[in-house]
Amino acid sequence: MINKWFWSLICVLSITVVYAQGGGMWIPTELNEEEMRSMGMRIGAKDIFNPNKASIKDAVAHFGGGCTSEVISPQGLLLTNHHCGYSQIQSHSSVENDYLTDGFWAKNMGEELPNPGLTATFIVDIQDVTDQVLQGMQFQMEESARLDLVKRRSDAIVESAKKSADQDAFVRAFYKGNKYYLFITETYRDVRLVGAPPNSIGKYGSDTDNWVWPRHTGDFALFRIYADKNNRPAEYHKDNVPFKPKHHLPVSIKGVKEGDFTFVFGFPGVTDEYLPGSALEMITKTQNPARIALREEALKIMDGYMRADDKIRIQYASKYARIANFWKKWIGESQGIARSGAIDIKKNYEAQLQEKIRQHCLTAKNEKCAVYPSVIPQLNELYEQITPYNLAADYFDEALYRNSETFRVALLLNNLVRRQGDRNYDDYYTRVSESLASLYRDYNANVDTEVSMKLWEMYQKNMPAAFRPLNVEITQQDIQNSIITGGQKINGKDLTQHTSEIFANRSALLQAATADPLVQKMGEVLAAYEKTVVDNRSNLQNQINQLMRIYMQAQLDFKDENQKIFPDANSTLRVTYGQVKGYSPSDAVYYDHTTYMEGVLEKYVPGDYEFDLPKKLIDLQEKKDYGRYATDGKQAVNFIATNHTTGGNSGSPALDADGNLIGLNFDRVWEGTMSDLYYDPNISRNIMVDSRFILFVIDKFADSKWLINEMTIVE
Ligand code: ARG
Ligand code: GLU
Repeated sequence: MINKWFWSLICVLSITVVYAQGGGMWIPTELNEEEMRSMGMRIGAKDIFNPNKASIKDAVAHFGGGCTSEVISPQGLLLTNHHCGYSQIQSHSSVENDYLTDGFWAKNMGEELPNPGLTATFIVDIQDVTDQVLQGMQFQMEESARLDLVKRRSDAIVESAKKSADQDAFVRAFYKGNKYYLFITETYRDVRLVGAPPNSIGKYGSDTDNWVWPRHTGDFALFRIYADKNNRPAEYHKDNVPFKPKHHLPVSIKGVKEGDFTFVFGFPGVTDEYLPGSALEMITKTQNPARIALREEALKIMDGYMRADDKIRIQYASKYARIANFWKKWIGESQGIARSGAIDIKKNYEAQLQEKIRQHCLTAKNEKCAVYPSVIPQLNELYEQITPYNLAADYFDEALYRNSETFRVALLLNNLVRRQGDRNYDDYYTRVSESLASLYRDYNANVDTEVSMKLWEMYQKNMPAAFRPLNVEITQQDIQNSIITGGQKINGKDLTQHTSEIFANRSALLQAATADPLVQKMGEVLAAYEKTVVDNRSNLQNQINQLMRIYMQAQLDFKDENQKIFPDANSTLRVTYGQVKGYSPSDAVYYDHTTYMEGVLEKYVPGDYEFDLPKKLIDLQEKKDYGRYATDGKQAVNFIATNHTTGGNSGSPALDADGNLIGLNFDRVWEGTMSDLYYDPNISRNIMVDSRFILFVIDKFADSKWLINEMTIVE
């Protein structure tokens, strides 16, 4: 009896839930404490964010502006991902001291390594300033005039925001420009490297395992924030002292189990959760396939060379990883959108919203009813119109800029020639010079010529004729005989070898670039693209932006009681929460929520560049010498949960019901990467390094007990 009643209730509930997408990246001052408590949280929202009193947010810092990090000791010890600290670890490495291959562990504070330019930014306060920004503004105001006014008002708010000399402030748009928030920040500028495991732990599984679950990667590194003697931000100085945070995260070694409450606190970069179904169609059926196909060809060629030649493998490792990262993400995203039925779900939702608007506007005659009824059809129309232009932009960007270094240099040199006489030309010239010097450090003309020819062939074949010059044919000779590949010398010197030296003689360089056939031809390709695509596309995009703002407001106005609407990620501080949970990636397959050291060994391939292991780790595993970090004799490595995360959440702390650190976010499962567009609680999972594994590596593998001793461990 009870069972039947129970199930009928569930059925009714699931029918009336029109669009309970789930997920959410919430503004920390506006948390739904009741829901969080109902899921198991034992602390209050004020413990997470409180501008007036020490709270968890005082331990969370934007790391170098792109990743997240957290303070885990009273002495400013900072935890983030290995891949977030990668360039710092690399910059301290040399052939004699290869910290990427061997790891790095300072034995005391004196050995910690400074990193010029690296910053850690804390959020002091967040204030809703929507009323001040939008005061008296017409809902339908012309978009560029509106943006001008928003900018002027935001600047004034920032100007008068209470701040001391070492604080910053900025205003950001939320909900597509329907809300605005002020952020007050403090940035520390002396951040030193403390410890990093070798690649064979910190990057274990590399590209093959990237975005993949089950995962076995110790993707963590340790830094330390230093401050002046008053605990204030300061430039690097040897007399600076370890930063004393208002709060540091206790580290739990209690372990996790299915269903445990967890939240992730960090700086997610970009999401687009409120697009109409027509936009998802454009992205997953037109744009992603084109981008995936182009990258796939480039990767295939690189991989061939990398496998055959060790020097090329090292030169291309990081480029390959960068290209492969989004290649893999887009594949997962398109599949996930298809599998979750997101496009139909969105279209259904739009039909229902359209009906609600119609009903409402029968009687209500307001400003909004002048635009709401037509907003969805207009957006659909515009997305259809912009699709070929977006595809063209992807083709141009992916084939001629991102994945071919030769073409990218050609475009940059062409620009240098064209922009002569511009304001700030000197700065621009210097920037191009620096970026080419760094590009040429790892440039291989053979590999890149083959990649470039393949990409050009695809460009010719798939870029609509209307968007490219029909009389331009780029040949292998053009590439081989160009200054860009060193086939043509400048004053007897090879640009690929003597980049800075050649840039020092500006007139010789510009003369050679002007005369170079490849640079000229790329210039024609660019001119055709600019003439036929760029303005049309940005004009359509501006119209879309205005309508998306209106559509977003309509979604907020007609929101269902059980519908959760959260602002898209915009690199500001957010809280996402969920539960530790496995998932089913495909029929008849179920993945558990935690991986163990046994699994690390299962993947071991001696000598392999992705799956080799340090001998010491193997020994520890064989002896099961896990110290107090094992649970029931097993050493956990990674785990997953339903937290809604995205790029930028790398390095974010995963906390338990009491606000203790249980994991370090570093990835998502690729079947669920469509969560940037549509979060599906059935398949979207974030991947974390288990805090017990982090401590095990620091303590047992790196023998760095002094670091464990400064932490607060919760047993
Ligand atoms: N997929 C993770 C994040 O986007 C990790 C990327 C770094 N790791 C790698 N193997 N490429 O962006
Ligand atoms: N690895 C990503 C980053 O660098 C996080 C993974 C994701 O996109 O969820 O921020």
